[in-house]
Parts: sequence; C-alpha cells; structure tokens
Amino acid sequence: MIAENPKDYVPQFFNETSNSYDRIVHWTTFGKDSLWKNKILEQLSNENTVLDLACGTGILTKQIAQKIPQAEIVGVDITKTYLEKAKKKLNSYPNISFVYSDAEKLNLGRKFDCITASYLPKYCDPTILIKICLEHLNDGGKIILHDFTYPKNRFIRKMWDLYFKVLHFTGFFIPSWNSVFVDLPHLIRASNWVHEYQKTMKTNGLKTNLQELTWGSSAILTGTKVL
Ligand SMILES: C[S@@+](CC[C@H](N)C(=O)[O-])C[C@H]1O[C@@H](n2cnc3c(N)ncnc32)[C@H](O)[C@@H]1O
Repeated sequence: MIAENPKDYVPQFFNETSNSYDRIVHWTTFGKDSLWKNKILEQLSNENTVLDLACGTGILTKQIAQKIPQAEIVGVDITKTYLEKAKKKLNSYPNISFVYSDAEKLNLGRKFDCITASYLPKYCDPTILIKICLEHLNDGGKIILHDFTYPKNRFIRKMWDLYFKVLHFTGFFIPSWNSVFVDLPHLIRASNWVHEYQKTMKTNGLKTNLQELTWGSSAILTGTKVL
C-alpha cells in the first residue's frame, strides 16, 4: 500500500510489532542503530530535562537516562503497545515518565533543555512538529532529529535497493514485519525530511547542524534555539 500521508503508515508499521522491535531494528541495521543513537548521545551533556518524542520501546530513552542520570526525561509515543513496552522496561528509572500522545498534538505546558526524536521526522509535517518542539524547548535548547535517508551516491543506492529486496523476502518469514519491509523503502525514498526540517528550523531562527551517517543511509539534524 502506498499511503498518501506518511502518517498513515504509523498504525500499519507499529500496531503489531512492539514485541520484536528491539531485535529487528538492531539486526536490520546491522547494529548501526546503536552507532546512530550514540551520535545523538554525543550531543547531550548536562541537560536537566529531555523530551524523547516517538520514544517507542524506550531504547534511546534508556540510553539518555544512563548518559545523564540527573536528567528528568519524558518519553512520548502514539502507539500504546510500544509505550507499554517502554514503561515496563524502564520502570526502575524514577526520573523517566511517559505520555501517550501524538507528537504533532503535544501540549505538556512545560519546556525542556533538549528534544530528541529518532525515526519520527519522516512521519510528520515539519511545520507542525517544529512548532510543537519550539513550544516545548527552553532558550539555548536543542532539537535533535534522526531518521533514515535515501543515499545520494548511485552505487550505494543500488546496494540499498537490493538490501530492501532481500528484506522484502525475509518478511515472508516474519509476517508482522512484512508490510514494513515492503513499504518502508518507498517512504524513505519519497521523504525529503532533512531539507524540509532544516528549512523550517532556519525559518524559525534555529541554528542548524547536519550529520550524514553510514554512506548517507541516515542523518541527524540538530537545531539550536540560540540565546
Ligand atoms: C521506529 S520506532 C522508533 C522508536 C524509538 N525512537 C527508537 O529509536 O527506537 C518509531 C516510533 O514512532 C512512533 N510515532 C510515529 N508517529 C508518531 C507521532 N506522530 N507521535 C508520536 N509517536 C509517533 C511510533 O509509534 C513508533 O513507536
């Protein structure tokens, strides 16, 4: 199914996949997911408050809590099954709390030193998401967005396309992931999230920094609300 709005993929991809997500994201990215999340963590140091949008099963949320144990962290997600996993997994961390919400409709009535979002940007409207982020961000704070990108290099693109064909085949053996492996490459190819979010960040006066990772298959875009 090719969805008109990227957000339409969210229930299709996530309603039935929470039990195996942590293993699948590790193996399908050949462990690069950990490397990319480490790059996000490198940008954190002494924040007191962090908002982790689309926290999913809490992989990044937990790593943030381990890197800055003094920080109060709030994880937000739109998929109940993923959020339940995160709550269960991280119930021994008193400084982490969770909110069930669409990130594009979030209204916590408070601000954070940093906002992270791994694998969220391509599903959202940049104008809406950045507006919500700015409403929840302290002066001097950072928005760190991470997601997949379609490589620019022609040879890498061919390898990338081939890899998703292999994943498509693998999907026959993991039925809950089948439609993700089929539709995710279409979504990534069609997404121009880096350019769109960077433009929106700049329009809103944020200072931006872009890190392209692993042969252009993923990127981290950071926007800082300068004092
Ligand atoms: C691929 S998972 C990533 C989870 C986590 N950030 C990680 O890196 O492991 C994507 C998550 O985005 C969530 N999501 C997608 N659109 C969302 C939205 N508009 N608001 C909140 N969460 C959303 C999904 O429910 C899912 O848990």
